[in-house]
Amino acid sequence: MRILGIESSCDETGAAVYDDKLGLLSNALYSQIAMHAEYGGVVPELASRDHIKKALPLISKALNDSGSSPADIDAVAYTAGPGLVGALMVGAAVARSLAYAWNRPAVPVNHMEGHLLAPMLEERKPEFPFLALLVSGGHTMIIQVAAPGSYRILGQSVDDAAGEAFDKTAKLLGIPYPGGPLLSRLAEQGVPGRFHFPRPMADSPNLDFSFSGLKTHAANTIREVEDSQQARADIARAFEEAVTDILAIKVRKALRQTSYRRLVVAGGVSANRGIRKGLADLMTELGGEVFYPRTEFCTDNGAMIAYAGMFRFKMGTRADLSVEVRPRWPLDTLEQNNG
Ligand code: KG4
Ligand code: ZN
Repeated sequence: MRILGIESSCDETGAAVYDDKLGLLSNALYSQIAMHAEYGGVVPELASRDHIKKALPLISKALNDSGSSPADIDAVAYTAGPGLVGALMVGAAVARSLAYAWNRPAVPVNHMEGHLLAPMLEERKPEFPFLALLVSGGHTMIIQVAAPGSYRILGQSVDDAAGEAFDKTAKLLGIPYPGGPLLSRLAEQGVPGRFHFPRPMADSPNLDFSFSGLKTHAANTIREVEDSQQARADIARAFEEAVTDILAIKVRKALRQTSYRRLVVAGGVSANRGIRKGLADLMTELGGEVFYPRTEFCTDNGAMIAYAGMFRFKMGTRADLSVEVRPRWPLDTLEQNNG
């Protein structure tokens, strides 16, 4: 069985072909970062228009690279939410139309389920059950994954998402969009321990997060210290250490609560080297295992949508002829997989 997956929820257009016997056959990606950089963030209307331009050429490329013709494709999967409504509509309309023209089913995919299953594209993949830490631009969640398609949200951010905190703090430090990865690079030059950021909600008994206080703390620190490249790097370092620490504290609690010993970390922020190391160290200490997607599959891509699409296709999920998207679509409202 072979599936075409299409991603267009935010500022990346992705198309990929996944085969359930042969694995990932192709993965084409176009990032709009350069276009949005001029505005300091994603401009939704520009994102939608650019997806329109890029979707079909990328889909052709993904088909060609995989050696597939439309007749070889058993279903067309697409990101139906959560995300920017206009951007989602483009991918959904293209996917739905191709499925209609090719006389194949269309399969709506939840973007966060795509992120969560991305480590399954790796050779070394987790067995179930596992705990998933999803850290992206719009979400921060700890999820108990008892079996494929069984999701229980144990905790989430009560304000900013982790990626959002990275991007907002980057802006305060004068780092251009996309802030997260660039802040992380700056942090590598920072002196550890010069500044100390708070660990909000570290002592709360639940597994929820709060990140908005970190950007306030960054703003105050920037106001108090000299304006130099080194000071900015030191602040970036302290900020990244605080985020890593908070994530590790909550993951430790969640592992204790569930008695699970496998951790999956996915979503854009899981590309962060400091965070990857911090959580790997934690799992070594606890005698558990940690699984990440390769860096290019941490951020948005078509491969994870094709993979999650295959999973949902086999479960019988189908889209009807209407083109519907869900800008908000909580993971725990998906149809549960009962085997
Ligand atoms: O998963 P993703 O590509 O899109 C969403 O679904 O939101 O995540 C994007 C987020 C952005 O906030 C970006 O700044 C952050 O992931 N990000 C990073 C890194 N790479 C991407 N944050 C910290 N360090 C990184 N290396
Ligand atoms: Zn994403």
